[in-house]
Amino acid sequence: MLDTLQSELETYERRTPASRAAHAKAAARLPLGVASNYRSYQPYPLHVRDGNGARIRDIDGNEYIDFNMCFGALMAGHCHPAVMHAVAATLQTGTMFGMPHDAENALAEEICARFPVDMVRFSNSGTESTMHAMRLARAATGRERIIKMEGGYHGLHDAVLVSVKPKAGEVGDPARPTAVPGGEGITKATLSNTLIAQFNDLAAIERLFAAYPGEIAAVIVEPILMNVGILMPDAGYHQGLREITRKHGALLIFDEVKTGAKLARGGACEYFGIEPDIICLAKSIGGGFSLAAFAARRAIMNLITDHRVFHGGTYNTNPVAMAAGLATLREVLTPAAYERVTRLNTKLVDGYRDIIKKSELEAYVLGAGANGALMFAPKPIRNYRDWLDIDSESWRHYWFAMTNRGVIPQPYWWDEQWTVSVAHTDADIDRHLELFAEIAPAVAAGQRDRRVRAAAPTEPPKATTQHDRSAPAAR
Ligand SMILES: Cc1ncc(COP(=O)(O)O)c(C=O)c1O
Repeated sequence: MLDTLQSELETYERRTPASRAAHAKAAARLPLGVASNYRSYQPYPLHVRDGNGARIRDIDGNEYIDFNMCFGALMAGHCHPAVMHAVAATLQTGTMFGMPHDAENALAEEICARFPVDMVRFSNSGTESTMHAMRLARAATGRERIIKMEGGYHGLHDAVLVSVKPKAGEVGDPARPTAVPGGEGITKATLSNTLIAQFNDLAAIERLFAAYPGEIAAVIVEPILMNVGILMPDAGYHQGLREITRKHGALLIFDEVKTGAKLARGGACEYFGIEPDIICLAKSIGGGFSLAAFAARRAIMNLITDHRVFHGGTYNTNPVAMAAGLATLREVLTPAAYERVTRLNTKLVDGYRDIIKKSELEAYVLGAGANGALMFAPKPIRNYRDWLDIDSESWRHYWFAMTNRGVIPQPYWWDEQWTVSVAHTDADIDRHLELFAEIAPAVAAGQRDRRVRAAAPTEPPKATTQHDRSAPAAR
């Protein structure tokens, strides 16, 4: 019998009654029953009991090979022994001092050895690091406006929670996209300083610099847009951004929160051969702990040295996170680890490509470093507006079918991507591919069926609100 999306949802509910009960309980005390909107999905999210290496177990006792890896923050895998050992030792000698200690400089050295930067400041989340990077850019240029890409995500502070997931009816003229707040509470004054361009549109960046001469402090960009699956830059796009920003005396900020540790040892800077002015790091540099950083050449970071830009934070460089970061960069994310993970990811991506072809799925697969994504679109997307047409029903079918069989193929939501960690093995990749081959024909059949029904004149309009991903508030 054909496993439809509906039957997969029923199986999910049958397998995970404890998650359902836990979610119902949590919803009384936590909005949406979760601690971050991104974790919320229908019918309810899996509740986790524990994780180790490449595996997690939910509270019903189901085991999964995990390719979510905490939204890509765990290239080290769960509980990597080197990280756990370093953290355990630190737990005996003090968890917070709010005073300098040796690990700070040691970790700054590691980052400067990987990226084209001279100085580093640490923080605790990607949100913080992009917020400080943007303030530095404003101070360095004496300008207030920032350009960000439609569909790009840089965390939760007001200036960037703009045009992250605007609805199709809100986006405006493709040449001059509307700045759409990602929820209520963002001031009009903040909005007016955030200018939006489509990714892969260099002419739009030029137009904005022409429209606001001497007013734009920086362009902030995810080097690969990884909050719409995987969206690669056109050849020469980053070189173009580099040239245009230099020409206009503005800074280029690479938000490497996702790419920094996972794309290559030196992140997107190395991968694309670009030297941005400021980089933002978080997620996988911490090996499973809250650790983030922003870093730049000395002249820019001296704005902090010279007391022109203020940066602080109680939890900054807490010894636990620093020990985790040091172990991760020194012992886990080694050149050999990048080689191995890239090989495993290539095997996974190539396997997907074969299966997509054989099963006649209308989809394509992309891989970059440790990441990959199955994109349910007939041809490669080039910007956020293309992504809006992703076949989310087929994606949901895919995700629940894989998860029900023991492989979480990526975080829930079709704007995410999988992470291959150092803990994954060839056998894990083989199992992932074996399951994908098993479910792909049913997903393809469901996709064909929906297309036929959509083409029929009597088909009622598709009810998508419940699973609408077009606004962060709906996640
Ligand atoms: C590219 C990018 N920048 C910034 C952030 C925000 O990081 P955090 O969730 O640690 O605040 C994220 C989070 O997913 C991200 O993907």
